[in-house]
Amino acid sequence: MQIYSSIPELRAALKNRGRIVFVPTMGNLHAGHISLMKEARAHGDTVVASIFVNPLQFGPSEDFNSYPRTFDADCQKLEAAGVDILFAPTVKDLYPEPQEYVVDPPAIQNLLEGEFRPGHFQGVATVVLKLFNIVQPAVALFGKKDYQQLMVLRNMTRQLALPIEIVGGETVRAEDGLALSSRNGYLSPDERAEAPRLHRVLTRIRDAVLQGERDFAKLEKEAAAELDSHGWQTDYVAIRQQADLQPPQSADIPLVILAASRLGKPRLIDNLEI
Ligand code: PAJ
Repeated sequence: MQIYSSIPELRAALKNRGRIVFVPTMGNLHAGHISLMKEARAHGDTVVASIFVNPLQFGPSEDFNSYPRTFDADCQKLEAAGVDILFAPTVKDLYPEPQEYVVDPPAIQNLLEGEFRPGHFQGVATVVLKLFNIVQPAVALFGKKDYQQLMVLRNMTRQLALPIEIVGGETVRAEDGLALSSRNGYLSPDERAEAPRLHRVLTRIRDAVLQGERDFAKLEKEAAAELDSHGWQTDYVAIRQQADLQPPQSADIPLVILAASRLGKPRLIDNLEI
């Protein structure tokens, strides 16, 4: 695997590499990231991963400085997964001057995650567009674990007519159901034992909806109350339309349940399609 931190050197290395498939990450890689790398192989000739902890998408009270950085272990995992090229720029490489031109997503950026992380999706969309311009992939893969992020990036790509196919990868979970996340490392052993409750309450809502329950507000409220009575601080549990993440106009269209809740230090997010 070739590793580059400079934009011009990466660009030179990407000449004549055929159809490029791109998987952006912030590192501290786990099996969820690696499943995207392996799926990437099937979509083109050259698989490019990136590792960049993007300061633009972290709020002032968030964990930018303490975000886990495990570069050497990450490189070994990428190499084993068959990644051809890793782009790992420094903040100076990617933002040599203040990033004043930004991508400002529409109202979807203020829903759900956006309500609790103001500016987050502007930071995500800006860095991903910039990475797209540097790597110029034909295909890019993102996980459904970050459902709203995938939608923001899909919509950006379509509306700006970027010549890139966006592929969504299924969420990889631990055996007890907890969605893999770099932030799971912040959990104490007791919290780690409690954490699968998030996926359990989502599963229970899905089953209730499939069995005909239509009082969505009640399901959302009960789920949040269950989490909070077990030491969580829940930001939202929301049943939404898959198409636009708005509250459902009908129960007979594809729905998704999304949740975000803090357990100890980390704020965990998860979702389940119905
Ligand atoms: P990061 O959190 O490192 O995630 C990188 C990619 O891995 C994202 O597309 C995310 O959805 C996916 N991913 C994370 N956990 C997963 C899991 N358990 N199963 C499947 N896929 C999973 O998301 C970001 O980085 C950043 O916002 C980024 C897009 C790189 C922009 O900075």
